[in-house]
Amino acid sequence: MGHLRNDTCRVCKGSDLTRILSLGEHPPVDNFTDAEHLKDEKRYPLDVYFCGTCNLVQLLDVVAEDELFHGEYAYFSSASAPLVEHFRSYAEDLKNEQLQSGDLVIDIGSNDGVLLQNFVENYRVLGIEPSSNVAEIARQKGIETIDGFFTVEMAKKIVETHGKAKVVTANNVFAHIDDVDEIIRAVQELLTPDGVFVSESHYLLDLIEHREFDTVYHEHLCYYSVKPLIHLFDRFDMEVFDVRRIDVHGGSIRVYARRKSNAPVHSRVQDILSIEEQAGIHSLTRFNDFQKEVEEIRDKLVTLVRSFRKEGKIVTAYGAPAKGNTLLNFCGFNSHDIKYVTDTTPYKIGLLTPGSHIPVESPEILKTDTPDYILLLAWNYKDFILKKEQELRDRGAKFIIPIPTVEIV
Ligand code: TMP
Ligand code: ZN
Repeated sequence: MGHLRNDTCRVCKGSDLTRILSLGEHPPVDNFTDAEHLKDEKRYPLDVYFCGTCNLVQLLDVVAEDELFHGEYAYFSSASAPLVEHFRSYAEDLKNEQLQSGDLVIDIGSNDGVLLQNFVENYRVLGIEPSSNVAEIARQKGIETIDGFFTVEMAKKIVETHGKAKVVTANNVFAHIDDVDEIIRAVQELLTPDGVFVSESHYLLDLIEHREFDTVYHEHLCYYSVKPLIHLFDRFDMEVFDVRRIDVHGGSIRVYARRKSNAPVHSRVQDILSIEEQAGIHSLTRFNDFQKEVEEIRDKLVTLVRSFRKEGKIVTAYGAPAKGNTLLNFCGFNSHDIKYVTDTTPYKIGLLTPGSHIPVESPEILKTDTPDYILLLAWNYKDFILKKEQELRDRGAKFIIPIPTVEIV
């Protein structure tokens, strides 16, 4: 229970750690709540550190898993149509480049089966998902899913019952792991000798360049760039052999790793390292102005929303993603500022956002209600949502886009 604080870097174990951003104390972003449970809400520091040795950007405060997930998890990947399409095309890449029919694919943090559902026809699949309410949805789609946290012990049992996997994936979950050594050892147990470990994580370069400070929350322990990942895999005799920049979650990297071999490493790996070096994210000084830039966005948003409210305008928010809660809490917004938030996730509807306690409504409400301004918290789906909500905009509602710069459309 509660939280722990690391004093060494998660990847290199060094202690040359400098704070680059402090967002104050926040409740865990996926702990949507209700009137009865407001008194149980706990807050923990959201401070981001840079490692001078391997250059990993990370949180040192680790909130216990049972505090983060509250038994049930509020995030369902399939609630966002563009994400479903992303995982379809990701699966195509793996089928074309890494797999033969009949191979076993294992997904760690498989959520509602959004990736694995694309493999059920010609491949063997296994999901691992610690949130039982989410795992159940995957099973209903016919995807065998183990309920639990992934460990070396679990990996050994899986090999006994299912054999080894050609591909192991971990998407938007690798950066959530505190004990990365345990996970890599467990992945090594699962992989065939020529097996491939593929992970997608939000990319530090996009975070810094587009000021995506709201993607900082307790579940995201690491903000990966390619350099520290190479360092990490190297400690386990593994190598990164391909890297791709992916246009999801505001900018992600897909990293391919395997046991060290004589096979060629794709030139993209060196290219992206050079891009990182040139962008300065391997050096502490690049982060000097980040706190100031983030506070500028906050101050603009607060001034804008409060001035609209003073004029008697109605302001609501669109999407209740985890990152939206970092933004709402950092701005200090409450239900007087933002009347309600709409979200497509049935689980979230009827609850209150953590910390800011704004009611979550079904998107249906926007069929009849026309707010004056709608703060787009799910800004990573901006193009999709602006198009989808053209009729609402024709009725006069304007969207406030918070990231990368505050704008009204
Ligand atoms: P994500 O950015 O972490 O995928 O979360 C997006 C959240 O926004 C998720 O709770 C679903 C919600 N959402 C909507 O409410 N409407 C939409 O059109 C989309 C794409 C997402
Ligand atoms: Zn380090």
